[in-house]
Amino acid sequence: MTLIPVCSLVDFPEGARKTVNVGDTPVTVLHVGESYYAIEATCPHQSGPLGQGVVLPKLEATFMGAGKRLVESFSETDLTISCPWHGWEFDLSTGAHCGDPEVTLSTFEIVEKKGELFLKAP
Ligand code: FES
Repeated sequence: MTLIPVCSLVDFPEGARKTVNVGDTPVTVLHVGESYYAIEATCPHQSGPLGQGVVLPKLEATFMGAGKRLVESFSETDLTISCPWHGWEFDLSTGAHCGDPEVTLSTFEIVEKKGELFLKAP
């Protein structure tokens, strides 16, 4: 495991984003609410800037059966990031595409040590 420096905790307020490289792969680090996330920055669809995408609560739908309406609500725990080019959405924690389980991006853990943030790379 390798710790890749991101920046100082004080320089990364809520809403901040920064891209670091894990080998040759750009990874966007985000501070959302009280949590830190790190996900591959490039969209697998057509290489769009996924790391610049909008972060929203995950939309969850429940099929209530034939002839009944679909119930939709926003998750209180799970977040998605949406690619600004064509809207592909990914779970911010797992990297899984929201509609195609065959498509998954790498995500990474962010740790804090002595006031500095680091990305844990394998
Ligand atoms: S490049 Fe990201 S959705 Fe198309």
